[in-house]
Parts: sequence; structure tokens; C-alpha cells
Amino acid sequence: MKGCRIVEKFVIHGGKQLHGEVNISGAKNAALAIIPAAVLCEDTCRIENIPNISDVKTMISILEYIGARTRFIKRDVLEIDTKNIKAMVTVPDDMTQKLRASYYLLGAMLGRFGCASVAMPGGCFFGVRPIDQHVRGFELLGADITTKGAVISASAAHLIGASVYMDNVSVGATMNVMLAAVKASGLTVIENAAKEPHVVDLANFLNSMGADVRGAGTDVIKIRGVRSLHGCTYSIIPDQIEAGTYMVAAGAAGGSITIKNVIPKHLESISVKLIESGIEVMEYDDSITIISDGKRPNKCIVKTMPHPGFPTDMQPQMAVLLSVANGTSYISESVWDNRFMYVEQLRRMGAKIQVDGKTATIEGMEYLVGAPVKADDLRAGAAMVIAGLIAKGETVVDNVHYIERGYENIIEKLIAVGADIERVTVLTDEDRIVAGAV
Ligand code: UD1
Repeated sequence: MKGCRIVEKFVIHGGKQLHGEVNISGAKNAALAIIPAAVLCEDTCRIENIPNISDVKTMISILEYIGARTRFIKRDVLEIDTKNIKAMVTVPDDMTQKLRASYYLLGAMLGRFGCASVAMPGGCFFGVRPIDQHVRGFELLGADITTKGAVISASAAHLIGASVYMDNVSVGATMNVMLAAVKASGLTVIENAAKEPHVVDLANFLNSMGADVRGAGTDVIKIRGVRSLHGCTYSIIPDQIEAGTYMVAAGAAGGSITIKNVIPKHLESISVKLIESGIEVMEYDDSITIISDGKRPNKCIVKTMPHPGFPTDMQPQMAVLLSVANGTSYISESVWDNRFMYVEQLRRMGAKIQVDGKTATIEGMEYLVGAPVKADDLRAGAAMVIAGLIAKGETVVDNVHYIERGYENIIEKLIAVGADIERVTVLTDEDRIVAGAV
């Protein structure tokens, strides 16, 4: 049909409590750094607990484009052979625009070859997303950085360890400087480093390849350069944000779910806020049980902060919970400039939220009402799904490709705990369902 576009949407009938178990996949933000980090070793790495999400598929295709050989030897075990990677390949923008984490190719290629050329990365848009701290870190290690159009190039005859103070806490810059420094001569010290679990996971992976990285998880990371690295087998940590999303979903919808394959320590800031909201959280060695009577939660004050603070990537999901709280809640966003775009969608469902700069004031309503909404970005999309789960009536979520960038089998996982949710294929011009659930 002329002019028609086929898109996928999620259709949710709210009001079902969630009961059962959810298994958490490998961490997206760790996988997106660890897969390009394999470039450094000129050998074969076997990486376990790889999440089956579109961002990871994009990263694998970028690696293949530059000459790596990859294959899944099991559903979630990826083998990457980086021996034949070509030094002088520019990673094109139709690939890098799909995900922000493509900037890790700069650090990894620079570390291996002394040169790298990557089109500026894309990813979710929530305000200005500069990479000045990455660039400054590379320059301090001795690299020359040039930009031509959208392409950023880095080159260094010889990378030399240096002291790199981050002007602001940046996950990406911390990890990128680590990648460039592991094979540099001498000692690199990163101060004011990010402490996120995926920073530690990348350091552990690099050390498994023979690197000497110490202090990851604190704000001072010391990297003593080594001459060469070797292949290894490594298992990625569970996804903190995927786990947190299911925790909030269960807390908001009511019921009792056990979230398996998690590191409860990584979830503490989320657990604390759920407990404050009146939701029961029980921690075990590698699982968390959430019990909620589905009644309106208590109001809360939430401020997003770098780890170990409350993660910005859980902010939209938490806003949904608080949109039906008893009383008025406040959320301050201190990491990103513009992360309240989803509020407009929640308002369509009856939420009463005022945004003033980087603070949202949420007046808790008795309930939300299902409506057609869209995912503005990955986590905003997860928030729309939670909103649909608790709303009265039907919610249709558009732009679900954003959600699938970071949530493995979200539909299947939610159906398994009793949610009424399906993926449908829709013709956009007539907005009628053509293929039913897929
Ligand atoms: C990563 C995550 C993203 C998460 C964010 C913060 C990935 C692929 N994405 O993004 O989901 O929301 O961490 O936890 O891992 N900044 C600068 N200059 C820089 C770099 C960053 O000013 O060179 C600023 C940013 O504008 C932002 C803050 O630092 O205000 C944090 O950004 P950063 O931690 O770098 O986020 P990402 O690594 O891009």
C-alpha cells in the first residue's frame, strides 16, 4: 500500500498484579564497553551473559565491519576474534548513529593501533551529550584529535600514561580513557572517575585479558600499561537497570515477584526508594523479591546521582510509581539536562507533573488511565510500559524500537509474571492492526 509504514507497538491492558520470577539478562552498558574492548587483545575472547538486545547487535555489526570475526557459540555466549581488525577503517555514521556507546571504538582502536576514526555517536537524546572529557583524556595520553564533518579521529605515535582529572563524573569518559590507557607506557591515574558497576566490570574484563587496572569502583583508577593482552573467557554482570525496572513494575502494579540473577548491592539505591514508598524488598544472595499490595505508594523525594546514587536511568520509571503516590513527590535530575520529555506522555494518562528546569513535582493521582503514548527514548519507553501495567484500560506504546535497544524479551518476561501485554504490527497511515500479535 502506497505511503504505508509498518511499525510495532505494545498493547497493554492494565490492572493485573505481577506474580512469579523474572531472570535478568547481562548488563547492556557493560556489554557495550566490553565487546569493543576485545579489540585491544588481538586474540579470541569468549564473552558470556551477552544480552540479546538491538544495541548489542549494532555493536557486533560494527566490530564485524572493522574486521572482527564473531559468532554466538550459545544463545548468550559470544566469541570475538579480533586478530584481523583493520587499523585504518572509519566506523561510518549509519552504524555509530544508532548507539552512543560506539565512542568506545575510539579508545579501543587508539589503544591497539595508535589511531582511530569514528563518526560521532548517536543514542538516546536527553539534552547536550558532549564528549569533551573523552577527548581531553586522550589528549593527556598524547593523542592528537581532529574532527572532519561528523568523523572524529585520534592518533598518537606513542601513548604515554598521564594523570587525568575528570571535570565531571562521566561513565563513558572513564571507560574510554581506561581503554586507551591499558597499553600506554607507564601509569595513568583517572581521578573523579565514575564508579558505576559497568566501570568495574570493564576493569575486570581488561584484567582478565592481562591488563593492570586497579581501583575501579572508587573515584581513583590506576592503570599501569602492559605491552600485550591475551584472549579470555568472561561473564558480564547482570543489568542493574533492567532489574530496577522490574522492581518498580512489581512495586507499582502490586503482587510478588522474584528477580533472579542480580547483584543486590548494585540495586541498593533503588531498593531504598521502594522501601520508602512502602514496598517490601527482600534481598538474597543473587535475587530480590518485591512484594506490594498494589495500594498507592508513599510520596518520595528522589535525586538522581552518579553511582552509588539513584541512577538517572531509573528516573522515568520511578516517576510512574510516584504519579500514583499518596501526596506530592519531587524528582531532581542531576545528571542530564533534559530528561523529562516523557512527562508529556504520562500527562496523557492523567499524571499531574510539573517540570521546572531539572526538577519535577509529581502530585500523586488515584490512578492513571490508558492512552496512546510513545517511547521518547529507551528508559522513557520502559516507564510507559510500567504506566500501561498500572493504568485502567488500554495503553498503546509507540516507538518500541527504543525499548528493544535495552530490554531483552520484555514482552515474554512480563507475560510470564501475569502482565497483559502484546506486541502488535500496525500500518501507520490507517492505524489498523494488520498482523496481530507477533
Ligand atoms: C552512560 C549510559 C547512560 C547513562 C549515563 C549516566 C551507556 C552507553 N550509557 O552514558 O545510559 O544515563 O551513563 O549514568 O553506558 N559529560 C560531559 N562531557 C563528557 C561526557 C559526559 O560533560 O565528555 C556529561 C554529560 O553531559 C552528562 C554527564 O556528564 O551530563 C554524565 O554523562 P556520562 O556519564 O558520560 O554518560 P554516558 O557515558 O554517555
